[in-house]
Amino acid sequence: RRKIIIDTDPGQDDAAAIMLAFGSPDELEVLGLCAVAGNVPLSFTSRNLRIVCELCGRSDTKVYEGALKPLNRPQVTAEHVHGRTGLDGAELPEPTMAAQAQNAIDFIIETLRREPAGTVTLCTLGPLTNIATAFARAPDIAGRAKELVMMGGGFFEGGNITPAAEFNIYVDPDAAKAVFASGIPIVMMPLDVTHQLLTTKARVAKIAAIGTRPAQVLVEWLAFFERFDIEKYGSDGGPLHDPSVIAYLLKPELFSGRDCNVEIETGSELTVGMTVVDWWRVSGRQPNAKVMRHVDADGFFDLLTERVARL
Ligand code: BDR
Ligand code: CA
Repeated sequence: RRKIIIDTDPGQDDAAAIMLAFGSPDELEVLGLCAVAGNVPLSFTSRNLRIVCELCGRSDTKVYEGALKPLNRPQVTAEHVHGRTGLDGAELPEPTMAAQAQNAIDFIIETLRREPAGTVTLCTLGPLTNIATAFARAPDIAGRAKELVMMGGGFFEGGNITPAAEFNIYVDPDAAKAVFASGIPIVMMPLDVTHQLLTTKARVAKIAAIGTRPAQVLVEWLAFFERFDIEKYGSDGGPLHDPSVIAYLLKPELFSGRDCNVEIETGSELTVGMTVVDWWRVSGRQPNAKVMRHVDADGFFDLLTERVARL
């Protein structure tokens, strides 16, 4: 079983990713869920994590609260996509479980120091503020993680919050820059992959047919979440970004890409948060990430449906 920490800003697609992880207990051990400010402020991302845990009958999972704001920039949120709470779309009770007293950043540092080197995978589904802060405070831990699998960035596909930048990187580009420079092995799921993962009517119908409460709630969340992108892209369904990270841990053969150098733009006003991916290896800079570009989308949705059915 692979030990994972999920650092996230739920978000309906973050919630889907956590459901995929909870539905895969034979392969994945979730050491903790870390909330970061992103789609909505931290108070909501923490609350939403606990809602997902209780919905899935996993209130024994430890939830930690991390950074309130990006490292050096004003906060940017995405209520226009995810709704006021970040998990709009389904009627659910407020959570009764509490977050841990320990801060997420301390939890990440302590866990990477405690567990044997090379055994813990960091999964990031939001801005990289918690991870960059942990690496800055404890420079030894980047070398102790197995790898970091992130949803973030975009290259040939462009950006989704500005023409150049994807949301997770845009919100805290300084954090992203530090993580890409840290030496940790990185697998990157950019928009180029996630824009292939469309919640089409046929795919969502299969999730609805599961008939359980978690599946029903997921369908309601997806209906809310995709409305914004359906209008924006004119597609059948919206891109389901964050579960790509967990799917990669379960079935890496669904994805293909290559080792590239990735640098983060932090200076330019026009392109801040852009992931400059050297796909054609023209820069001479050393690769620092495995950048994915293609995915077997039907295989991905079959996996998601199968695992959500186990909740
Ligand atoms: C990313 O931004 C968020 O809105 C989603 O949850 C996802 O992590 C996609 O750009
Ligand atoms: Ca997210």
